[in-house]
Amino acid sequence: MKGIILAGGTGSRLFPITKVTSKQLLPIYNKPMIYYPLETLLKAGITDILIIVAPEHAGDFVNLLGSGKDFGARFFYEVQDKPEGLAQAFMLGEGFIEDDHVTMILGDNIFEDDFSEAIQTFESGARIFAKQVEDPHRFGVVHFSEDMVAEKIEEKPEHPESDYAVTGLYIYDSSVVEKAKALKPSARGEYEITDLNRLYLDDGTLDVAMVEGAWLDTGTFESMYEATEFVRSRELGIG
Ligand code: DAU
Repeated sequence: MKGIILAGGTGSRLFPITKVTSKQLLPIYNKPMIYYPLETLLKAGITDILIIVAPEHAGDFVNLLGSGKDFGARFFYEVQDKPEGLAQAFMLGEGFIEDDHVTMILGDNIFEDDFSEAIQTFESGARIFAKQVEDPHRFGVVHFSEDMVAEKIEEKPEHPESDYAVTGLYIYDSSVVEKAKALKPSARGEYEITDLNRLYLDDGTLDVAMVEGAWLDTGTFESMYEATEFVRSRELGIG
């Protein structure tokens, strides 16, 4: 199993604090944001990790994380010239993934859960993780049948049919590269991870598991603040 951390993008929702640096390098309490998804991969035993970054901040990521030696891992870097969607990671990562399985985590997602078992027992197809939220229209949304079989998956629907958000950790078999290459950009001009997941759903090979514990997508000021509070309470053993 290989790992990808997607840490590019413009961070436009966090202007002006992302004007001269990358969102994923901003602090969440006592660590840069990217440390949290990195620790999630390392905890699951993944040691070959591709970090995808925007060109203007590539040097800062290398300065911060280096070769991976300090983390007991090997880091590889790829520049995403333009943020053309989450699924583009698998086109950029083709040479890195080769014939292996791959777990991708978004550089702004913080999970309390431990994915070791889900990652180590993965065999084929795709495995994604859902979480009930109050504001599903901000996310990819998965709709289940009465017996909890995933039936439909939509990206930021105006009128969500369920309150299960798709979180930012995805496990795929190596067919993800060919599937990603077959995608067409969406109306907003992005290669959508939701379209990629839908290909697996249509194949009958998409497994949707539930996330245990806290999940924080730190892409807005509010959620960054909440994440900082969450980590602070955990670090100080309060709350
Ligand atoms: O957080 C989970 C959600 O992430 C999912 O529920 C959605 O289905 C998925 O589309 C995504 O939605 P976001 O609106 O949060 O995506 P965002 O554009 O903020 O990108 C997520 C991270 O990936 C962010 O840290 C920036 C980075 N990124 C994004 C794009 C579009 C890249 O590195 N390259 C890109 O091309």
